[in-house]
Amino acid sequence: MSDSKPFHVQPAVVTVTVVTRISTPFDAKTTAAEILAGVDLTGRRIIVTGGASGIGLETARALRDAGAEVTVATRNPAAGQRAMDLSDLRSVRAFVAGWTGPVHAIVANAGIMALPTREVAANGWELQLATNFLGHFALIAGLRDNLRQAGDARVVMVSSGAQLRSPFDFDDPHFERRPYDRWVAYAQSKTADVLLAVGIARRWAADGVTANALDPGSIHTNLQRHLDDATMRAMGAMDDEGNLLTPDRFKTPEQGASTSVMLAASPLLDGVTGRFFRPDNQEADVVPGGPDATGGVAAWSVDPVAADRLWDYALEAERE
Ligand SMILES: NC(=O)c1ccc[n+]([C@@H]2O[C@H](COP(=O)([O-])OP(=O)(O)OC[C@H]3O[C@@H](n4cnc5c(N)ncnc54)[C@H](OP(=O)(O)O)[C@@H]3O)[C@@H](O)[C@H]2O)c1
Repeated sequence: MSDSKPFHVQPAVVTVTVVTRISTPFDAKTTAAEILAGVDLTGRRIIVTGGASGIGLETARALRDAGAEVTVATRNPAAGQRAMDLSDLRSVRAFVAGWTGPVHAIVANAGIMALPTREVAANGWELQLATNFLGHFALIAGLRDNLRQAGDARVVMVSSGAQLRSPFDFDDPHFERRPYDRWVAYAQSKTADVLLAVGIARRWAADGVTANALDPGSIHTNLQRHLDDATMRAMGAMDDEGNLLTPDRFKTPEQGASTSVMLAASPLLDGVTGRFFRPDNQEADVVPGGPDATGGVAAWSVDPVAADRLWDYALEAERE
C-alpha cells in the first residue's frame, strides 16, 4: 500500500479503580453514645439543623456529651438554640452572617416528608426541596470559609432510603409542570442530599472538607406527621386501632442518630468522603434505583455528572 507507514503498537494502559466498601464495628442497634465512647470532641464546633427533635435531638445530645460545642439550628428556637428556617433564604443567610470562626462539622438533618399537597416557600420553591436540600446548600456553601478554617471539617447529609425512589428531575424540580407526588418530591430531595455530599467531596477536598450521606433507618418521630393512618398501617407502623407499632426493623431515636454521629465525629471515618452509609452503619452498595430497589444507594444518587449539574443548578437557583 502506497500510504503504509511503519506504526508502533502502544501497549494499552488500563486503569482499574478498586473502591473498597467501608465497614465499621457498629450495627443497626448501636446508639449514638456508643459510637462516641472514648471520643473527646472538646474544641469542635458543630452545627445540627433540626436538632430540637427526633434524630437531630439525639445527634446533638451525643455530640455535646462527647465535649463538642453544638449549635442547634431550628425554626422555633428555645434557650441555647439559634433560629434558622431552611425554607427561607433570608433566614439562612442571616444565620451564616452571624457565624464567626471555624465550623468542624455540619449535620444537615432537618427535614420534612410527604406533604399531602404541593406547598411552596416564599420564593416559590417546592417546600420539601427547599427545606431538605436547597436551604442546606445555602447554609453549607455560605459557611465554606468557616469549614475551611477548621482544617478537617465534615459535612453530613441526612438522606433516606427514599433516595432509591427518584432521581433528581432537572427539568421540573418544583413540580410546576408535572403532577405533584408527595413521595417523589421527598425522594428527589433526598437524592439531592446525597448528590450534595458527592459534590462537596469532588470540590472541597483540598480544603480538608469531607462529606458523606446516610440513611438513618426507620424511626418514629415527628417526620411522619403528614402521614394518614392507612399509610402508617401499610408501613407496618400502626395497628387497626391506631396504636403505633414498632417492628424490630425500627430503631430508637438514639439508634437512629448513630450514623449521623459516626460520620460527623468518629475517628474511624477520618478522611472518608463522598460515601453513603446504611442504617446499620456500613457503607452501602451502589444499586440501580427504582420501585423494586430494597437497599443500597441508587446509582443516580452518587452520579458525579448529576452531582456537578445539581451544584450548578443550586447556585443558579439561589441567585434568582
Ligand atoms: N424518622 C425516620 O424514619 C427517617 C427515615 C429516613 C430519613 N429521615 C431523615 O432524618 C432527618 C430527621 O428527621 P426526624 O425523623 O428526626 O424528624 P423530626 O423529628 O420531624 O425532625 C426534623 C427536624 O427538622 C426541622 N425542620 C423542618 N422544617 C424546617 C425548616 N424549614 N427549617 C428548619 N428546621 C426545619 C423540624 O423542626 P420543627 O420541629 O420546627 O418542625 C425538626 O426539628 C430528616 O432529614 C429525615 O428526612 C428520617
